[in-house]
Amino acid sequence: MAKPKRRFVCSSCGSVTNRWQGQCVDCGEWNTLTEEAPATVFSAKHDLSSGGRAISFEPLDMPGRALVRRSTGIDEFDRALGGGLVPGSAILMGGDPGIGKSTLLLQASASVAKAGGTAVYISGEEATGQIRLRAERLGVASAPIKLAASTSVRDILTTLGDMEPPALLVIDSIQCMHSDQIEGAPGTVSQVRGCAFELIRYAKENGTALVLVGHVTKDGSIAGPRVLEHMVDVVMAFEGERSHQYRILRNLKNRFGPVDEIGVFAMEGHGLAEVGNPSLLFLSGRENTIAGSAVFPAMEGTRPVLVEIQALIVRLQSGATPRRAVVGWDNGRLAMLLAVLEARCGLNFSSAEVYLNVAGGYRLADPAADLAVAAALVSALAEKPLPREAVWFGEVSLAGEIRPVAHAGLRLRESAKLGFAHAFGPEDKSLSGKNGAARETGGRHTSVQLLPNLVDRILGGE
Ligand SMILES: Nc1ncnc2c1ncn2[C@@H]1O[C@H](COP(=O)(O)OP(=O)(O)OP(=O)(O)O)[C@@H](O)[C@H]1O
Ligand SMILES: [Mg+2]
Repeated sequence: MAKPKRRFVCSSCGSVTNRWQGQCVDCGEWNTLTEEAPATVFSAKHDLSSGGRAISFEPLDMPGRALVRRSTGIDEFDRALGGGLVPGSAILMGGDPGIGKSTLLLQASASVAKAGGTAVYISGEEATGQIRLRAERLGVASAPIKLAASTSVRDILTTLGDMEPPALLVIDSIQCMHSDQIEGAPGTVSQVRGCAFELIRYAKENGTALVLVGHVTKDGSIAGPRVLEHMVDVVMAFEGERSHQYRILRNLKNRFGPVDEIGVFAMEGHGLAEVGNPSLLFLSGRENTIAGSAVFPAMEGTRPVLVEIQALIVRLQSGATPRRAVVGWDNGRLAMLLAVLEARCGLNFSSAEVYLNVAGGYRLADPAADLAVAAALVSALAEKPLPREAVWFGEVSLAGEIRPVAHAGLRLRESAKLGFAHAFGPEDKSLSGKNGAARETGGRHTSVQLLPNLVDRILGGE
């Protein structure tokens, strides 16, 4: 009989090779290849076309159970989930070490339990005493959570099988779970996949909302095979700069609702506090009269968040290569914008160092930030502060045109609400017309069609 082939699987990206290497050829990570148990040799005569049970087909419009979501008791968490927990769904929550995953889930479990649902919290990483201490600090020690420390999926499922299925089951974390059916140490690809599969099956069969905590790798993706992300219904990332107070819970995949919804929290001594109005968090302490500062109404899903963009230009006397440093925005995009400002507007940045920062440690991914960044750069170069009440949004093309962006009305309304009444952006009938959003909010919208027009306005001091 032929020797079964050896398989080595990368624990970072899940790719398979048949010999061990120090570095994974697919994702470039070091020391991530581990040997998996050999796959069963398939007989060539294997025939699956008979011997099975007939399955029945169903029409699409059969009346079924309506989707009833259960609130986690934390509005920002519900919002990020798209309206609350769906019974029988599996949620994978990733995040950097120490960002607050266990804290958030303990708070959510406590409010589910207090509202009368059964909440089971299984920790594989911390002892129950440690979690009790945290619960005391968070002020939720009296909540009737069913708490246990275990890493054995068999033990967990046996216990759950003997009780009424819980409304919420938290597994903290999936990387330390272990199934005795599968070979390998906890955290290996086959273990993570196998344990997740069993737990998800339990959740689907019993209508339990399951939350799996997942570790993340250096580059921020959830550790373990990508396939874990395919297996679950919802993937969420808990983000934030550890040096800053705020945390953002972002929805990356959602089978029951929109993605890109966010929940915003602030990490405080007594746990995670909800931030109902994140704009205030990012704009607090802003000095209005400084050159190089522009306010941008960013969109996070369907939610506008006002952030401050700061630019600093330092002229170099020597012929040294000037530095460009960006925090919170895309490096390539800054290079492009500088090139457009040079080529289309005749500004000279080539002998100047350019620093760009998004205040509050916020990371911008919205392409509409172009205009705000351009305004901050021009203002910094000219050393002229921008108008106090202005916000800027729009995408800049290579030709220097300002392109329309999504949700202009929402951006304008949120800005006006916070006292930023003058919006500069692309031409948009829905904003500036007679019944436009600008008039409705009592604000003003100035359309900017070309980047040179904007530069003239700023340099002209209007
Ligand atoms: N006494 C305290 N006062 C204020 N903040 C605290 C206190 N104790 C812990 N924290 C905060 O809680 C964070 C840890 O939260 P938590 O344990 O929920 O993170 P985690 O994402 O579960 O981490 P891990 O990946 O290690 O499981 C700390 O980084 C700190 O910011
Ligand atoms: Mg934890």
